[in-house]
Amino acid sequence: MSHLYFGGADVVELAEKYGTPLYITDEKRLIENFRSYRTAFDDYDYNTDIYYAVKANGNLAILKLLAREGAGADVFSTGELQLTKLAGIERRKTLFNGNSKSDDDLIAAVESGVRVSVDSYDELNALASVSEQLGAEVEIAIRVNPDISADVNPKIATGLKESKFGIPYKDVMKICRAAHSMRNISLRGLHCHIGSQILDVSVFGDAADKMLNLVASLHEAGIELEFVDLGGGLGIGYRPEERAIAPTPAELRDAISPAFERKKAAGIAPKLILEPGRSIVGSASILVSRVNAVKHAYKNFVAIDAGFNLLIRPVMYDAYHEVVVANRYSEPCTELYTIVGPICEAGDIIARDRLLPEVKRGDLIAILDTGAYGFSMSSQYNGRPRCAEVLVRDGHADLIRERESFEDLLRNQKVPARLR
Ligand code: LLP
Repeated sequence: MSHLYFGGADVVELAEKYGTPLYITDEKRLIENFRSYRTAFDDYDYNTDIYYAVKANGNLAILKLLAREGAGADVFSTGELQLTKLAGIERRKTLFNGNSKSDDDLIAAVESGVRVSVDSYDELNALASVSEQLGAEVEIAIRVNPDISADVNPKIATGLKESKFGIPYKDVMKICRAAHSMRNISLRGLHCHIGSQILDVSVFGDAADKMLNLVASLHEAGIELEFVDLGGGLGIGYRPEERAIAPTPAELRDAISPAFERKKAAGIAPKLILEPGRSIVGSASILVSRVNAVKHAYKNFVAIDAGFNLLIRPVMYDAYHEVVVANRYSEPCTELYTIVGPICEAGDIIARDRLLPEVKRGDLIAILDTGAYGFSMSSQYNGRPRCAEVLVRDGHADLIRERESFEDLLRNQKVPARLR
């Protein structure tokens, strides 16, 4: 019986040793994914920084690896900010994003000395008073809503004019002028993010054009900007037919660079920042799950021990993840199965109508390309402690997150004295 290997390790042995469900991350693949950005952009004229989007996967060991590679960070909360600090990511290369920041978030950002991407007038005013109270200057970018439609699931299209993110394109000049005149606020850049899992890179060229036009208009108005941050969004090949067409960082660079070249002639050459999440971590992890039951009913159901509590993408975005039987890896695929989780909801379906070798109770199903928005979107729904995570390198595995226990379900719960 042939086994699936991942990161040089036998997945069946890892499942025996650490139990299931189990997230496994391949260190080398993670580093390669990051370096492919570096290689594509290092000799590019625009002095590019890669700010990893922590929301995609905030495991501390993964952040440490990326910090060592020179990654900056896109953080969306004080929690993510603290994680990046622990990981040793430079504060100068950290952008605090978000459309709904509390005073505490703004205080944490200013005290940490990171830059803030400002999403509204309310936030700009609040940030000005926080930084004045703290007697500090804060460097900001304005989050622009570029009104660009990327061909992606509507839940992850973030640059449409009806999206909750960013300042409407037509109002950007005005807010930049306001920010420019504020004490304690130092306007340094413009920021956008048009969506996620984008497979046609031409929209990044459109975004670059729109953003650089703003930089040029601001230049004419006497406001010089240091950087343009085009966000993340590069898609990966989840489906077999997508693998060949999934864009590379070099293709992203080629889509963006004409816009930069056009402006360079006019003396406008801001630094470029990118915030990839999925394309760094997505392909670097798998989720391994044990089969609890095979049922021949209306469909052939394979019930596994991981559901949308650990991987919500199929349910939330109708996302496709390839699945394989890790302990019968090279057996012929003869049966059609629908893979379902253990959660008490009819929608808890991980993969529909997949051709697999004959599956039996006790087999191991590996769900591929689950490194992005997998564990980071997990929950304890249905009283299920979250699973463990391991990091493998050359066949050697290290535990990078303990499996949660019943105590973790109880943590922070209080029973009032009258109920004891
Ligand atoms: N920068 C900003 C401001 C973002 O909002 C995001 C993702 C990124 C960067 C990273 O985008 P990426 O390179 O990973 O596409 N949970 C969804 C994806 C949500 C993306 C949210 N923002 C999913 O599982 O498909």
